[in-house]
Amino acid sequence: MTRAEILNRLCGLFPQPSYLEIGVYRGETFLEVQAARKIGVDPNFAFDIKAAMAAQPHATLLAMTSDAFFAAPPPHPATYDVIFLDGLHTAEQTLRDLLNAIELLKPYGVIVLDDILPPSYHAALPGASRSIRLREALHSTDTSWMGDVYRLAFFIETFLQAFTTATVGGQMLLWRARRPAEALVPRSLEEVGRMPFEETVFQRGVFNICPLEEAIRRMGR
Ligand SMILES: C[S@@+](CC[C@H](N)C(=O)[O-])C[C@H]1O[C@@H](n2cnc3c(N)ncnc32)[C@H](O)[C@@H]1O
Repeated sequence: MTRAEILNRLCGLFPQPSYLEIGVYRGETFLEVQAARKIGVDPNFAFDIKAAMAAQPHATLLAMTSDAFFAAPPPHPATYDVIFLDGLHTAEQTLRDLLNAIELLKPYGVIVLDDILPPSYHAALPGASRSIRLREALHSTDTSWMGDVYRLAFFIETFLQAFTTATVGGQMLLWRARRPAEALVPRSLEEVGRMPFEETVFQRGVFNICPLEEAIRRMGR
């Protein structure tokens, strides 16, 4: 399934869906998402945002970083049903985006984290240029760079008790559903911050991988 297909299925759970996308790039996902109101945030859009907003009057595109957006989110929709986090793919930035997004999430809303399951060691390096250097040195055919966003899966499992997750393809879905104390796998912050790539394989259970319809069933929808 494409990102847009997943996001459209999630938006379809709400009568008048409000949608926020952090990191829009060429708009391949944003322009395909069907929602009553859509906000897209990116400091470097790679398409004509004026033309896009003219074609989709229910969409607003803001040329700024996520930190600037969350510093004082304008009063578009003040809260969102579906939030897609696909900005700078480092654990630190994505964690800050996630904590900010939680503040703007409606009670039954869903947050989607992109690129949570890197396919290779070099795809999971936090720096894109270092990732490319290693990939070229290894003559690897895997050209993806996903950064160390995967570390958030471990952070959420240990520290965000109020949220339940499921991973569909490369996307992690989070929604508000408190988990029992036994579900909180003990880890130090340092351990999470240094979690090596191989643990995405050895501790695969942390991702709660399932088909989209199963995830929606688990949401109680
Ligand atoms: C992987 S692309 C987004 C792809 C898009 N969501 C899609 O599905 O087609 C990542 C985007 O994040 C943007 N980005 C980088 N740093 C950012 C930041 N601090 N805040 C928001 N967006 C950022 C980049 O400019 C880039 O366009």
